[in-house]
Amino acid sequence: MLHGETVGLARRNDAEWWREAVIYQVYLRSFCDADGDGIGDLPGLRAGLRYLGELGVDAIWLSPCFPSPQRDHGYDVADYTSIDATYGTLDDFDALVGEAHALEIKVVLDLVPNHCSMEHPLFQQALAEGPAGPTRELFHFAEGRGPGGGRPPSNWRSIFGGSVWERVIEPDGEPGQWYFHLFTAAQPDWNWTNPRVRAMFADVLRFWLDRGVDGFRIDAAGALFKGDLLCDLEDPGVDERAHVPANPLAWGRPEVHDVYRSWRRICDDYAREDGSDRLLVGEISGFVARDVRTFLRADELHEAFLFELLEAPWNRERFRVIIERELRDGLASAGSLAWTLGSHDCVRLATRYGIDANETAEVGVARARAASLLVLALPGPVFLYQGDELGLPEAELPDSALTDPIFEHTGGERRGRDGCRVPLPWSGDAAPFGFSPPTHARPPWLPQPELFAAHTVERQRSDHASTWQLHRRALAMRRSLGARRDGRLRWLDVVPDVLAFRHEETLTCATNFASEPRRAPRPGTPQLTTASAPTGWLAPHSTAWWIEEV
Ligand code: NOJ
Repeated sequence: MLHGETVGLARRNDAEWWREAVIYQVYLRSFCDADGDGIGDLPGLRAGLRYLGELGVDAIWLSPCFPSPQRDHGYDVADYTSIDATYGTLDDFDALVGEAHALEIKVVLDLVPNHCSMEHPLFQQALAEGPAGPTRELFHFAEGRGPGGGRPPSNWRSIFGGSVWERVIEPDGEPGQWYFHLFTAAQPDWNWTNPRVRAMFADVLRFWLDRGVDGFRIDAAGALFKGDLLCDLEDPGVDERAHVPANPLAWGRPEVHDVYRSWRRICDDYAREDGSDRLLVGEISGFVARDVRTFLRADELHEAFLFELLEAPWNRERFRVIIERELRDGLASAGSLAWTLGSHDCVRLATRYGIDANETAEVGVARARAASLLVLALPGPVFLYQGDELGLPEAELPDSALTDPIFEHTGGERRGRDGCRVPLPWSGDAAPFGFSPPTHARPPWLPQPELFAAHTVERQRSDHASTWQLHRRALAMRRSLGARRDGRLRWLDVVPDVLAFRHEETLTCATNFASEPRRAPRPGTPQLTTASAPTGWLAPHSTAWWIEEV
């Protein structure tokens, strides 16, 4: 795009609430613990809804809360239509949805269709039936290679480390067939070519839609169908090395689109009843992300995460290239990519920007604030990961505290994702920082570092300059601009190191990527800044917003 040219996304209408929504990712285990067992739960989340209302989010995406042995913290689902007792009950869930809606907060569930838990009754039935049983068809079972079938059926490696095949002990007590798992052995993959699997998930969608949910985040959405599992790969470790989808036989198979078209029809049926879309947002990463727009056709997913900014270093050109491309390409697809800077799967934003450049923690936080304000100024939906509104750093945890299966599966080579999942600090000066009630029976499931004391919600609420207040104000302004921020923007390439753009007649946003102050691209005092500077200037690593009066 040339300087001065105007680009942007299609204008939203009210039915399409998701087009401009700020969706807050609730990592339930770590949000708020009401019963004192050290693990966040639905009653805790209900208690925290006012906080989210005050922050001003439009929706929450709730990490999996279904019954699960928690071998991958809920991404191993044993029952898709119930609530894990650790988190509460279906009544708690219904109450949550009702209360969230009363606050005008929509609720998006996390659906895990690629795999289940090995404790899922159908997998248990498949094991019990033995090799000839019909239920094995719902999964991917195969005979092993070599004498006695003792070697895995193929050489593929899992994204979490180790073989994708696990051998079972058959009902006769002897080692027998092997089953396929893209992630851990505790997460057997469903066989999506089997119509029963399709029908079952259609029912799961309807079950939750009937309970009033506003949509689904689809886990590992580029997977589901697989190529020939029995054929050896030339590069079997490609997923394991990349840590993201890279194996073309395991991800991005064309059949998956038909499933999402059928899900879209289900969602659209519900949307027709009350005029409010039921969102489908896909987690599509790795090489599949290259073709992510093919998932965003008018009859498929509404949204997919854009992971590129999340992976990008603090660099003006990188940000500019990614944003420019997405805005331009966005014009051609019905659905939207959602700006994403953090999640429960990656190092915390504030730490990432510090580590990348070997900068100090303060610089990391300054950049995190600036990046957040930058994406909140862009047209399109934004996902905000729990705790990033507080500027939480990645927690450094001792080996003994680590629970992520990645740590175990890689023999400690990869430390895993626990550091960004540590329970939120709400109040006080010492753990559990109000995360659990004062009479709690157990400490938080991951230890909170002492430095969380400086980041509590309580402190940040009363500090005008805090990261929390910054987000609250930004969300309020974004909302008040509403339709005036109509998705058309113009780059203002006037100052080196500064990424600046203007929404016609509404908002000008400028980010200084440099370590020194830079001239602001327009006169006047900004209404919102991540770091103060004399009028006419931008502080190092900062973003400012100027809002036009009408
Ligand atoms: C992606 C989820 O975000 C991650 O946390 C999980 O481990 C894998 N999918 C497997 O479900």
